[in-house]
Amino acid sequence: MSSPHNAAEIGDIAETILLPGDPLRAKHIAENFLTDAVQYTSIRNNFGFTGKYKGNPISVQSTGMGIPSMCIYAHELIETYGVRKLFRVGTCGAMHADVKVRDVLLAQGATTDSSIIRNIFGASINFAPLANFDLLSSAVKNAARLNIPAKVGNIVTVDRFYDEEIDQAKLVKYGVLAVEMETAGLYTIAAQFGAKALSVLTVSDSFVTHEVLSAEEREKNFNDMIELALETAIES
Ligand code: HPA
Repeated sequence: MSSPHNAAEIGDIAETILLPGDPLRAKHIAENFLTDAVQYTSIRNNFGFTGKYKGNPISVQSTGMGIPSMCIYAHELIETYGVRKLFRVGTCGAMHADVKVRDVLLAQGATTDSSIIRNIFGASINFAPLANFDLLSSAVKNAARLNIPAKVGNIVTVDRFYDEEIDQAKLVKYGVLAVEMETAGLYTIAAQFGAKALSVLTVSDSFVTHEVLSAEEREKNFNDMIELALETAIES
């Protein structure tokens, strides 16, 4: 048996998974960080692999961009394949002046302008999508051990990359650090099924300084972030 968007058979996917948006990043992780990696899906060119990291079974699955795509993959991974620990590994844009390009961010919470919360809870509740505390605290300790400067806080998950209306000043005033497009979806689906999730992000661009990382720098930072996610994945 497989699921509508995944060709894996039950048992092909590990309980712990890394979720990049980009299929080529999923391939890069499988080829450079995992041993004995086997590809289990390429439906829609979203690649999935299962291999080992330091002897522990780990999968990596690309999810595409945005909340709807993330929610489809997370839902099927948890419900059909029994995945229990999900790490988004991706990029974000810095909004807050304290956040610089190249920083690693651990998303403690994900504020959102998406209708997902409203559609689940109705207009009277603003559910707060949160990181799993065990994964978050373990990632904070691992970042210190690996000498990777990591910041922890609230981010905003937006539905539109090209968003002229976003009130950056107000979000920053309320402590929001950065913007991306998937985490609130991941945290909400994980909450629905009682699974654990954490977004580990690198800052690829800044709304403050208008700096944008080059492809090489993105790759180096990306590798630090993957190491942090994998070290956390195998212990928590
Ligand atoms: N906006 C939205 N999502 C993002 C950005 C951004 O600037 N950078 C990386 N993901």
